[in-house]
Amino acid sequence: MRKIAPSILSANFGILKEEIRAVERAGADLIHIDVMDGRFVPNLTFGPPVISSIRAVTKLPFDVHLMIEHPERVISEYAEAGSDFITIHVEAEPHLHRAIQKIKEKGVKAGVSLNPATPLALAEEVLADIDLLLIMTVNPGFGGQEFIRGSLEKIQRARALIDGRTPGVLLEVDGGVKLDNILTIRDAGADIFVTGSAIFHSGDYAKTIGEMKKILDGTAC
Ligand code: DX5
Ligand code: ZN
Repeated sequence: MRKIAPSILSANFGILKEEIRAVERAGADLIHIDVMDGRFVPNLTFGPPVISSIRAVTKLPFDVHLMIEHPERVISEYAEAGSDFITIHVEAEPHLHRAIQKIKEKGVKAGVSLNPATPLALAEEVLADIDLLLIMTVNPGFGGQEFIRGSLEKIQRARALIDGRTPGVLLEVDGGVKLDNILTIRDAGADIFVTGSAIFHSGDYAKTIGEMKKILDGTAC
């Protein structure tokens, strides 16, 4: 089952609780939470206290995307705040294998992410240890950027790699996913579609998510 994960980076933070409830009602499958430290990426967002205070707002799984340097140091805090998935960047963590084990020891699903310029090969040695592979299709740091076309081929290669070696690993795509390209991204092989501005800047969350799901299910006219 392909899934839609709205990124609350593009939500109105002043009414975050209502925004999360609204996307849940609109059919979201996961809540994607972009954690940024102002170092690995220039932007700064939220940390464990915000995540734990929104945990009770929804039953949807929290898909926590850590865009922070050396995430191994703070895995426990993010796990205890209520993450269901914790995804870390290969570019940000020299001890990737150990950090993945720490995530799993906490009973949380482990993800690994690659920036657009990072070769797929950098995730190969840990593929059997993870639950999710996240392919960034924009340079991380900001919502509302344009999907990097060249990443489609990388998604296809990631799909083939997963199918060949670790069929249970979920393939997630993040950045510039919109109504007009979600079909192409589906056809490239993605399982989970992170989408921020396309949902939160649309006037009607249910309509947008509904249309995306119809496209993913092949029932759009
Ligand atoms: C970018 C974040 C994305 C971002 C996606 O660093 O990881 O999750 O919010 O936003 P859109 O869908 O607007 O590209
Ligand atoms: Zn993200």
